[in-house]
This record gives sequence, C-alpha cells and structure tokens, in this order.
Amino acid sequence: MSGSDVLIKNVRLYGAGDPVDVLLADGEIREIGTDLGVVDAETIDGTGQFLLPGFVDLHTHLREPGREDTETIESGSAAAALGGYTAVFAMANTSPVADSVVVTDHVWRRGQEIGLVDVYPVGAVTVGLRGKQLAEMGTMAAGAAGVRIFSDDGHCVYDPLIMRRALEYANSLGVLIAQHAEEPRLTDGAVAHEGPTAARLGLAGWPRAAEESIVARDALLARDAGARVHICHASTAGTVELLKWAKGQGISITAEVTPHHLLLDDSRLETYDAVNRVNPPLREASDAAALRQALADGVIDCVATDHAPHAEQDKCCEFAAARPGMLGLETALSIVVETMLEPGLLDWRGIARVLSENPARIAGLDDQGRPLAVGEPANLVLVDPDTSWTVRATELASISKNTPYEAMTLPARVTATFLRGRITARDGKAVGRP
Ligand code: NCD
Ligand code: ZN
Repeated sequence: MSGSDVLIKNVRLYGAGDPVDVLLADGEIREIGTDLGVVDAETIDGTGQFLLPGFVDLHTHLREPGREDTETIESGSAAAALGGYTAVFAMANTSPVADSVVVTDHVWRRGQEIGLVDVYPVGAVTVGLRGKQLAEMGTMAAGAAGVRIFSDDGHCVYDPLIMRRALEYANSLGVLIAQHAEEPRLTDGAVAHEGPTAARLGLAGWPRAAEESIVARDALLARDAGARVHICHASTAGTVELLKWAKGQGISITAEVTPHHLLLDDSRLETYDAVNRVNPPLREASDAAALRQALADGVIDCVATDHAPHAEQDKCCEFAAARPGMLGLETALSIVVETMLEPGLLDWRGIARVLSENPARIAGLDDQGRPLAVGEPANLVLVDPDTSWTVRATELASISKNTPYEAMTLPARVTATFLRGRITARDGKAVGRP
C-alpha cells in the first residue's frame, strides 16, 4: 500500500443501506467491506455521511484567459472541488474566445497542472462566437484536450443554416453541440423575464418564446441531421413541454437546468439588485415548479451550474447595465437538496444521477459518474446530509462574489472530494497537489 491510500470508514453508498468501509488506492476503489483495517492509509470517518460519484458540471465559466480578475482556472477549480465536482466543462466565451486548439489545449493543460478537477474546455461553434462562420471543431476535437462539447454559450447560434451545418459537422466528429437558446431578435435590450414583475419594475422583458422557439427549431434540426443536441439552462415550462415532445419523437435531445432556476423566481427582482440578473432570466414560480418536476421525471437530464463570476463593478450598478450571471459551483448540491430532495422529488440515488451520472454520459466521459464498485475510478464526493450552512460570499473560493444566496442557510454540504483517489477538498478547503 502506498502512503496516498485513503480509507473512508463507516459511510453509506448513495445514502442507503448499511455503512461500509471504502478503500481508495492507485486512483480506484480498491475494496469495499466492513472493518477494513489498513495500516498506511489516511483514514476519514464517514459516520453519518454519504458517498456519491463525483459531480460533473457541463456548464462553467472560468474566465481564463482574459478576465482573471474575476476567476481563474485555479480559483474556479478550487470552487469546483469544494462543490464536490471532479469534472467541469469550461465555456468558450473567454478572451480570446476558445475557438482554436491553442486556447482549448491551454485550458486543458492548465487544469491538469492545477489538478483539483478535470477541466474540459468547451470549444466555440463559430469563430469569435459571432455566429457567422464555423470554428475548426475538428482541430479542437483532435487536440490534447480532445474537445467533445461545442457551444457559443453566452450567445445563441441563431442562424438556422449555421446551426444545421454545425449539427451535421458535430455528428460526423462524434461531438455534442450545446445551445444557448435565445432568439436574439426577441431579446434585444431585454434584462428580465417578460411578465408582470418586469412590467411593474420598468425592466425590458425577455419572453419565454425567445428560448422556446430555438428549442423547437433545434429539435427539428437535430432530427433531420440525425445529430445530438443539448439545451443549456432550460428556464421555462414551455421548454419542458417541447423537450417532452422531442424525446417522445425519438430525437436525441438532452437538457440541463441550473440550481438558480430551480430555486429562484422573478419576485427577487423587486430590490433591483443586479445579483439577480442572469441569462436566461429568473422566470415565474410556475416555471421553477415545472423545471423541478421535469428534473424529477427525467425530461430534464441534469443540473449544470452556469457558474458565471463577475467583477463587483459589473454587478454593483444599475440593473440594466449589469452583466448577467451568478456563482454556482459551491452551492449547487445544497440547492438541489433543498429544491429536489427535501420535497421528495429525488432521493440521493437520484441526486447522483442528475449531478454526476447523466452529465458524464451526455459528455461521453467514461471515468466519471461511474458505479460505486471495486475497480471503478475513485472520482467521488463525500457529503454530510444532515448539516446546514450559511452562505457568505467572502468565504467562497471564487474570486468573484456574485452569489444570489448570500446569508441564506442551506442544507447539506460536501465534506470531501476525491479525484482519482486523491483528496482535492476536505472540510471546506481545497487541497492542491502535495
Ligand atoms: C453567462 C456569462 O456570464 O458568461 N451569463 C449568464 O447570465 N448565464 C453566459 C451564459 O451562460 O449565457
Ligand atoms: Zn448561456
């Protein structure tokens, strides 16, 4: 046994059954049993805690290169490890844009150097995210990063002909297009969900149809191309109905929902605090309820954070001038427990599915979201289900502080994260390489 082995004592797998001991060695789960005694291993007491496969985030903004004042691959990796993540997909809307293999390979290598979480770069679909000309997806897919998801996130691939070609090209490469569904002609100048709240507050409205029209269009384009398409941050009850329809037709469509769209609604806008500005906008309580039900039913496949750090000067300003986006990595599990587990919509097995197994499958990662069984890679998270904690932006690992959950007391917390058997977070601290 080497000195880096870890023995987790007395833990419940997926929060069920009798407690067991789990030995991690050489990057994998070496043994599961009772009363395992190992001389050289670091021992963690898992009493009262649950072991799950490490979380996988299909939608993270790490801001490097270009806005290292708001997040870096290092600070974002720490936030990810603390949130229980063992793999994150870093969106392409950096500066320069991740539309070339030079940028995507840099992001991948930097993530590996830091070693807190596997950082998979998302490649841009179009050059400069401008929606006009396809980026060299094949070169990015063939690089060291082996890019497997492409997205213009932050922008919609709005031109139907470009989207059609992107889907065809992606299909031949065996990669996935993730769409930020927003018909830009319908959201010109929009800053909040179009509805009674925005009307009363005098905020320009972002109609549900701007999202839903693209979801419907892209389902049809995916059908005709025989390609897969993934919908980023689904936010409306109508999107849920369209996903149901498309899946019923056998179309290869998947979707994610963010923790904030599960928990929050546009009643939060009353204060005009721009921490609540996000794309797509916080919708109505009825939309949030439909999203929760859809996640429980599998119509929506997974939770993705859309972790979007922003500088204070870009958030602490008038609502319409603020940048859209909120932090998400360190609070995701707690929000999912609050919105899905506590009301009985999902159990812990279900949480493993929507935070780990399903996103790993959508991304095609064969070492993540794996069963808790001997011989499997030790990408894992240990959770205390019975604790609660109060969110303080100043205590988060992200450089930016734009959390909408400030001062909220939330249930459950990650106590340790393991990447290939190595502890990457423990008791609220990210743990770098020795
Ligand atoms: C994201 C960002 O800040 O990059 N903002 C947001 O409001 N979600 C972009 C995006 O995910 O659309
Ligand atoms: Zn987006």
